[in-house]
This record gives sequence, C-alpha cells and structure tokens, in this order.
Amino acid sequence: MSEGALAGRTAIVTGAGDGIGKGVARRFAAEGARVLVAEIDTANGERVARELREEFGAEALFQATDVTDKAQVHAMVDTAVRAWGSVDVLVNNAWGMGTVGRVERKTDEQLQRAFAMGYYGPLWAMQAAFPHMKERGWGRVVNMCSLNGVNAHMGTLEYNSAKEALRTLTRTAAREWAPTGVVVNAVCPGAKSAAFQRRAAANPEIAAIADKANPMGRLGDPETDIAPVVVFLASEAARYLTGNTLFVDGGSHINGVAWTPDLDGEQ
Ligand SMILES: NC(=O)c1ccc[n+]([C@@H]2O[C@H](COP(=O)([O-])OP(=O)(O)OC[C@H]3O[C@@H](n4cnc5c(N)ncnc54)[C@H](O)[C@@H]3O)[C@@H](O)[C@H]2O)c1
Repeated sequence: MSEGALAGRTAIVTGAGDGIGKGVARRFAAEGARVLVAEIDTANGERVARELREEFGAEALFQATDVTDKAQVHAMVDTAVRAWGSVDVLVNNAWGMGTVGRVERKTDEQLQRAFAMGYYGPLWAMQAAFPHMKERGWGRVVNMCSLNGVNAHMGTLEYNSAKEALRTLTRTAAREWAPTGVVVNAVCPGAKSAAFQRRAAANPEIAAIADKANPMGRLGDPETDIAPVVVFLASEAARYLTGNTLFVDGGSHINGVAWTPDLDGEQ
C-alpha cells in the first residue's frame, strides 16, 4: 500500500474530468487514494482515470455521471462502494453552466438548473455517502463554493445562490455529523481552470485583469495551488476542522475581485 496522506482511502471527485476536479483527482491519486472520477464528459473522464492509473499507479475508475440526475448520483456512490467497500472522501466539485444577466431577467429554468447542479447534486451525494462514512466513523466532504456567492458578484444570481445554499448545507451537515467523525468543509477557489481558460480565450483581457486583481499577482493552478488544500481537508490532519470555508485564492477574498460584467448583454 502507498504511504501518502490518503493511503487506503476511497474518494469520489465529481467533475474530475477537467479543471480543479482533475487537479484534485491527480493529487489524491499521488497521495495514495483510490479515486472514482465522476464526470459528465466521457472522453475527459476516461482519460483522467487512465492517467491516475498510469502516472500514479492508483486504483481509479471512471463513472459517467450527471450530478443533476439523482439516480446517476446514487449510482456513482454505489459504484465506489461496490468496487472498494466504502466512500471515505467526497468532493462535490462539478459545475457546468452559467449565464450573466440582471436579477430581474433570470428565469426559473436557470435557477432550477443551477440548484440541481450546485445544491441538489451535492446533497444527494452527501446523503448517499454519509451512511458509509458513519459506519466507519470517518469521513471527509469538501464542497466547492465560490467567492461569487460570498461577495454577491453582479450578474450571476443563480450561481451565487446555489453556491451559498451549498455553504449552508456544508455548515448544517458539519454540525449534525460532527459526533460521527465526518467533517464537512467548503473551499472557495481561484484558479485558471478549464472554465477560466475558455472565458479567457473568448475575452483575452480577462486573464490579465484576473492576475492583476489577485493580491499574489496570479490566479492559481488547479493541481499545485488548489488541490493540496483539498488533500489536507481530506486527510487525517483535518479531523478537528469542520463547517469552515477556506478561501484558496491567493487572497482575492480580502480585496474582492474587480469584475463588472456586461449586465445588459445577451444572456
Ligand atoms: N475556477 C475558479 O476560479 C473557481 C472559482 C470559484 C468556484 N469554482 C468552483 O470550482 C468547481 C470547479 O470549477 P472549474 O473552474 O474547475 O470548472 P471546469 O469547467 O474547469 O470543470 C468542471 C468539470 O465539471 C464537469 N461537469 C459539468 N457539468 C457536470 C455535470 N452535470 N455532472 C458532472 N460533471 C459535470 C465538466 O465537464 C468539467 O470537467 C466548480 O464547482 C466551480 O463553481 C471555481
């Protein structure tokens, strides 16, 4: 057995086919975890699972998962339990939508999709994983939230609301599950992920503005800046830390992010 901080642990990472989720899955594998790559994009998901096996010698599986579908979320947890007998670590990271527009123009459909993605998906996964964690008296949940929600960035109501609902879920579960050995924390990251690269490609000034606005002068790297903190939260070292929000963003939460979207553009 490998000797990393997560040796012998079984982890599920949603949205692990790219961006921060991929960085987390790679660091988890490097630290000895067995990793279920739960991802809606089959090509990326399969590629990452293969990389984990080939580069790190890890046990890794890909499970096609749309986190907005309750049956698929349950199947995701079942797969990990069937394969490895447990779920020790759950990282709710998947996200895949976004609109920019004023509050008064947001539609029910946009809000419902955001809550399915950012709130219900993580909740269903937590509900399905918790009994297995409780049974073993050990569990770690890390929910990816956002400074957008904390600071109420303009234009992204559905994202902000779903992410803040997820932080409330994080804190409520942390309190209720504290006696069981299961800790639940939130991370608000700031990283040059796949989503960011796509935005920067469409609007090249964004990358320079984002770097300049960051106290450290650069947005983070998913694997080398964000993932090590998630490894810590998933490890034994975090056993007395629960209900917290860690801003892993080079200090952006201190000075805020100067981002003024075009609120009157097309949605
Ligand atoms: N990048 C940042 O700076 C930043 C800032 C704040 C919060 N976050 C949060 O961090 C998380 C990761 O963001 P990222 O920037 O790495 O995004 P990303 O777009 O780079 O990666 C997201 C991954 O989730 C997958 N995905 C999309 N919809 C899915 C679904 N329905 N089911 C399963 N998988 C799905 C995508 O295919 C992709 O592989 C998100 O929850 C995001 O809100 C990121």
